[in-house]
Amino acid sequence: MAKIGLFYDSDTGNTRKVAKMIRKYFDEADIELKNIKKVEPADFEKYNAFILGTPTLGEGELPENWDAFLPELDALDFSGKTLALFGLGDQETYAHEFVDGLGILYEKFTELGAEFTGFWPLDGYEYEISRGELNGEFVGLVIDQDNQSALTAERIDTWMTQVMPVLLAAADDAQAA
Ligand SMILES: Cc1cc2nc3c(=O)[nH]c(=O)nc-3n(C[C@H](O)[C@H](O)[C@H](O)COP(=O)(O)O)c2cc1C
Repeated sequence: MAKIGLFYDSDTGNTRKVAKMIRKYFDEADIELKNIKKVEPADFEKYNAFILGTPTLGEGELPENWDAFLPELDALDFSGKTLALFGLGDQETYAHEFVDGLGILYEKFTELGAEFTGFWPLDGYEYEISRGELNGEFVGLVIDQDNQSALTAERIDTWMTQVMPVLLAAADDAQAA
């Protein structure tokens, strides 16, 4: 079985594209890529390491599929599981709710007991308010395909060097346990 679950939601395809770029860093056998629309709560019990991706839509909201799915996870215990989050947003048009969806995922999985890796610096983004920000950092990788697509590959690369060893170690520890 794959070691890491990479689950995403995407409205216009940007988050899917980033998810596929992230998947390429791993050996194919180590990671399973799934649209959250096709995931069941039991799929979250199969892994101990996850990468979860979301765009922000509406006014600082999660996309439809994540929004519908999250309440289904309420009965699960994520303690001992390690998550790395990434969020897509548009810092110019949505400067007052920039990548809020990232923050919503973080808050939900924190409540469920998860641990996190892959916090990301605020430098290089210009916005007013973000629910994805905590204690001077973003709670996961932030990608802005609308305004800064030229930076995406490099941002992913930097983030992957940070999160990959942590996620693989978390998955291996769990398999050894
Ligand atoms: C209707 C609409 C609402 C949006 N609302 C927000 C928002 O509140 N905050 C934000 O950071 N980005 C917002 N965005 C920007 C998207 O998050 C961004 O374009 C993202 O790359 C879309 O990813 P997707 O193609 O995977 O759906 C919005 C985009 C649209 C079309």
